[in-house]
Amino acid sequence: MKKDLAYLEKKKKNGRPITMVTAYDCPTARIADEAGVDAVLVGDSVGTNMLGYASEREVTMEDMLHHTAAAARGIQNAYFFADMPYRSAETPLDAEKNAQRLLGKGALCVKLEGWREECGIVAYLSKKSIPVCAHIGYNPQIHGAKPKVFGANAREARELIESAGLLEKAGAILLILEKVPEEVAGIITKALRIPVIGIGSGRLCDGQVLVINDVLGIGERSFRHARAFMDYRTKALDALRAYTAAVENGSFPAEEHVHHIAPQDLVKLESSR
Ligand code: KIV
Repeated sequence: MKKDLAYLEKKKKNGRPITMVTAYDCPTARIADEAGVDAVLVGDSVGTNMLGYASEREVTMEDMLHHTAAAARGIQNAYFFADMPYRSAETPLDAEKNAQRLLGKGALCVKLEGWREECGIVAYLSKKSIPVCAHIGYNPQIHGAKPKVFGANAREARELIESAGLLEKAGAILLILEKVPEEVAGIITKALRIPVIGIGSGRLCDGQVLVINDVLGIGERSFRHARAFMDYRTKALDALRAYTAAVENGSFPAEEHVHHIAPQDLVKLESSR
């Protein structure tokens, strides 16, 4: 069943948690989709998780287009969207042009980092019928690569709550809260009509998003907000060591992996050499 925005909104209304992960390539997006994840995001975390960059700020529009197109090919049912990379939405016209390019690769919506200062761009894109997911709290593009909790004091919490309301008013259709105290995330989630998805923002949001590398245990680092639901790295290391050993000791390829020429043709071939 195709999961559109109405599906996510209905989940919020019925108090059923929305599930979301990032994915950056076709096979991973396909697995997430087949597993029944509600929404798949091609985050700019592709930079640090897949491309070996030191920061999200290095991710280019071309990177995002390439990975959005790849992941889109794996999606059948999940709601699918993509990040606007660093400095891709500095003017309304740039934002529109770049957002349209991502929509052209299969994204149904674009995600934009930034608090209340992004309301103008969100309103502009919404007027142009480009759906926008706002993203507040910790914003790697704005605050740098070192994660930090936002909203742990009353002043900052108020700023987050007001920003969330203003972004919804400006036309955002979804909101991501990153590294926000659970209590503040709960207030925002209750106040907004649009689905609010948390990462590192506790249990009171309408849903959760995690970076796929953290869910599968691909990376070498672990984060307080995440749980590795498998140890991919150890399993991959074991598998590749076993492959290396099998090639080196001659047990791979075995008879079942081999193609043969017909015996009479082999005789012909050898007599002609
Ligand atoms: O880029 C990303 O992966 C994100 C998620 C953390 C929401 O923005």
